[in-house]
Amino acid sequence: MFFRTITTPTARLLRPSHSRLPRRTPFSLFPILPSTLTQPFSTTLLRKHGHTTPPKPGEELYVTFVDKSSKPHKFAVSAGENLLDIAQEHDLDMEGACGGSAACSTCHVIVADNAMYERIPEPEDDENDMLDLAFGLTETGCNRSRLGCQVKMSKEIDGLVVKLPSMTRNLQSSDFSKKA
Ligand code: FES
Repeated sequence: MFFRTITTPTARLLRPSHSRLPRRTPFSLFPILPSTLTQPFSTTLLRKHGHTTPPKPGEELYVTFVDKSSKPHKFAVSAGENLLDIAQEHDLDMEGACGGSAACSTCHVIVADNAMYERIPEPEDDENDMLDLAFGLTETGCNRSRLGCQVKMSKEIDGLVVKLPSMTRNLQSSDFSKKA
């Protein structure tokens, strides 16, 4: 029985001639394999970060990011866009290591106006947990920290101004990454 799986000339000589079993090709031992090989190859789309939908005329909301060199970048955006996607769409330096699932603090932003901060829906527990780990967390005065991926633009916060911190802490690499 063992010899029937071997197809070399030597193996054929060794095959018992009295065997009544039909010849088998090596593939017939793995009936699933040929059909598996004929199935089309498919992939799952990666979530593309930084993709935003341009606002319709008359429905623009405005947000300004102040970068690490204190330079403001003002954008017109649609309601519902989060700050991480907006920043990445415009190539600002916001890492977003966890992809916007409130599992890191690399999208840390500092809301520059206390009244505006109060108009943003309160952070969930996950966000608060991550903010505790954020480098340069600010909780008092005019500057209050949030995770950019958890802040969605709305009419209530039209005109929002946020600062990007000088550094972020990426715990996935257990490291500090200095952002120039
Ligand atoms: S991207 Fe990780 S918490 Fe926002």
